[in-house]
Amino acid sequence: MNCFITGGNRGIGLEFAKQLSEKGHHVLVGFRNPESADKLKKIIPIENHLLLNVNDEQSIINMATNLKSRVNHLDLLINNAGIIGTRAGLKKVEMKDHLNTFQTNTLGPLFVTKHCRSLLGKGSTIANISSLMGSIDDSSGGAYSYRISKAALNMVTKNLHKDLNSKGITVVAFHPGWVRTRMGTPIAPVSKKRSVRGMLKVLDEQNDLSGKFINFKGEELPW
Ligand SMILES: NC(=O)c1ccc[n+]([C@@H]2O[C@H](COP(=O)([O-])OP(=O)(O)OC[C@H]3O[C@@H](n4cnc5c(N)ncnc54)[C@H](OP(=O)(O)O)[C@@H]3O)[C@@H](O)[C@H]2O)c1
Repeated sequence: MNCFITGGNRGIGLEFAKQLSEKGHHVLVGFRNPESADKLKKIIPIENHLLLNVNDEQSIINMATNLKSRVNHLDLLINNAGIIGTRAGLKKVEMKDHLNTFQTNTLGPLFVTKHCRSLLGKGSTIANISSLMGSIDDSSGGAYSYRISKAALNMVTKNLHKDLNSKGITVVAFHPGWVRTRMGTPIAPVSKKRSVRGMLKVLDEQNDLSGKFINFKGEELPW
């Protein structure tokens, strides 16, 4: 299987790269800073490292050109790169933070998908790494920029599902759990290994995933 992961140099993205390559898949990884790829170098051959800043459309276009010179189709696209933003509540929200978080978490996955579209076809899967914090039903308030960006990513997922599922492409939004990464902090209850193992099991075993919002245990979540 040909797999491409954004933000694959650390955290959940790096763990996806590790587990997918251990399963024998052909894994290509996008990341924005070559100096932050030391751990990745031990797992994925350097020719499969692609520079990618999901905030910059030209960088996405360059990455997609590069990717197309290496593979002629993608079985799995994991839109994982993301930021938490400032976690600000109402008193401290700032437009600048919103725009940056929205660009990374919402427009990044949309434009990566747009420019990789010709690599996706019957049997391909797009997994958008969302968050329960983007569930409108589940919101407990605060963290405006992150919640809004992930709620909008959920809309990107549903829209892509409507546009692409008839072509045989599965589009799913995942909540990876509260995971011990730089974003999740060391007090998070779920390890990267468990989160990613869970999401890959869901992808392997569950049919009819497209258009759904699912957690790493395979449970469907409210939008
Ligand atoms: N950890 C959790 O509890 C949790 C819960 C729910 C959802 N998520 C979601 O899971 C995904 C991965 O999060 P994580 O916990 O692994 O976070 P992380 O450890 O902070 O890693 C984030 C990754 O995204 C990359 N990234 C950020 N902005 C980027 C950009 N503009 N272009 C390219 N790469 C960029 C980072 O690259 P750099 O090294 O260059 O910064 C890094 O590789 C995110 O979408 C996050 O929202 C995480």
